[in-house]
Amino acid sequence: MPASTDALNLRAFLDQVERKNAKDILRFKDRIALDFDATAVALELERGRAWQAPVLWFENVADSAFPVVTNVFATRSRYALALGVPEDRLIEEWAVRGDRALEPRLHDKGPVQDVVYKGADVDLGRIPIKKHFERDGGRYITNGIIIAKDPETGVRNASHHRMQVKGKTRLGTSLHSRRHLWDYVRRAEELKKEIPIAIVIGGHPLMTFAGLWKGSMTVDEYAVAGGLAGRPLDISKCVTVPLEVPAEGEIVLEGHILPGVREPEGPFAEFTGYHSERSTENVIEVTAITHRKGAIYQDVVGGMSDEHCSMLAVPQEARLLKGLRGTFSNVTKVSYPKSGTCRFHAVIAMRNPVPGQQKNAAMIAFAEDLSLKLVIIVDEDVDVFDDQDVFWAMATRMQADDDIDIIRNAYGAILDPSNDNGKTAKMIIDATKPRPDFAQRHRLPADAIERARALIRKVRG
Ligand SMILES: Cc1cc2nc3c(=O)[nH]c(=O)nc-3n(C[C@H](O)[C@H](O)[C@H](O)COP(=O)(O)O)c2cc1C
Repeated sequence: MPASTDALNLRAFLDQVERKNAKDILRFKDRIALDFDATAVALELERGRAWQAPVLWFENVADSAFPVVTNVFATRSRYALALGVPEDRLIEEWAVRGDRALEPRLHDKGPVQDVVYKGADVDLGRIPIKKHFERDGGRYITNGIIIAKDPETGVRNASHHRMQVKGKTRLGTSLHSRRHLWDYVRRAEELKKEIPIAIVIGGHPLMTFAGLWKGSMTVDEYAVAGGLAGRPLDISKCVTVPLEVPAEGEIVLEGHILPGVREPEGPFAEFTGYHSERSTENVIEVTAITHRKGAIYQDVVGGMSDEHCSMLAVPQEARLLKGLRGTFSNVTKVSYPKSGTCRFHAVIAMRNPVPGQQKNAAMIAFAEDLSLKLVIIVDEDVDVFDDQDVFWAMATRMQADDDIDIIRNAYGAILDPSNDNGKTAKMIIDATKPRPDFAQRHRLPADAIERARALIRKVRG
């Protein structure tokens, strides 16, 4: 759990990160350009692997009054810190706590409404919204959590969506995941109703995790945030729409999704490593901007970055682990490797699977997650987070004629550029040992490893 004295906001979390390891935040005092620079710094650091994916804090961004913080979600150690668990318990704990719900506490006003712009004062140009990649259709909010209520039941939803700036008060967005917000909009359009929304930019990671949580449409995702935190989320009333936002958020845009209106949106650099030309082309009209005093603008490094990909992998691993364990208690670990865009490939480790269980586990995974194209099943001794270990298991425990199955013409992720209008193939690779008396993996005695580590520490200082 976050320490009970820590407020559930971004600043408190960044303080916590810095207290734990000052090197985990890299501050830039030099002025950077609004467009491209922050993304380029994040991707250059990824390429060099010189740093362990630190938070990047740009204090001086073009003519903006706001500093920009990015890369917060690039490393699993910070997800674990936000949940208050050791990193190796992250996925298990997420799966358990995601099912707890704790109702939020409502206030009339919160710090996020310290400064309010309404009417003619609304201008998205006040905020350092930037262009991330060369071919992006424009400047994009990549860290916007859209809060909306079901037009029929009133249940609250929170979900991340890319949003392109189209004018002082206009945004374009895509609801291509076709999940809850897409369904709200579909039904609101049938009822000829506008959908009021609030876009939350910057907050405690647990709020972000609630937005990434995929569950039933009957669950209030503020209650999920409370369940993850172990204490209720404080929320406050919006100033121009009948909605509530996290009281300690950094910046909020209020507005409406316009029913029946469609305008070109995109292209946008996606987690696949490609620009996506696909969009549902929805349009948002902004009615208010509110923010804390001294607000921080939080951005997500877009494209196939560590940050964007980890935000997809971590919640999906928790969801899949829970789904698999419902049938097979011998599933030990699950990963969505970045080499598979954190979306299209999954690796599942099982303890002593009975012959045949490997295929059943893979089929559960395909049913749980439409985006998956490849599921590799490995034994418990293989590190699912290490591509080399997984490929080694394939090299030494798998025979292509017996251990590979292909399902043709299934449905899959439309952002996969190789998919045919939604249609895709699915592949199962069983890379588990074919028999119990299989060749023994070479090992060193544990005490020799300990002695070696001590010797290395001594030499390295
Ligand atoms: C950084 C980020 C950006 C995203 N952008 C979009 C988007 O533009 N459109 C979309 O449909 N889904 C997008 N997603 C995926 C949805 O947010 C995700 O499917 C979410 O769980 C949906 O919420 P729901 O299950 O409550 O409906 C994005 C996810 C992340 C992490």
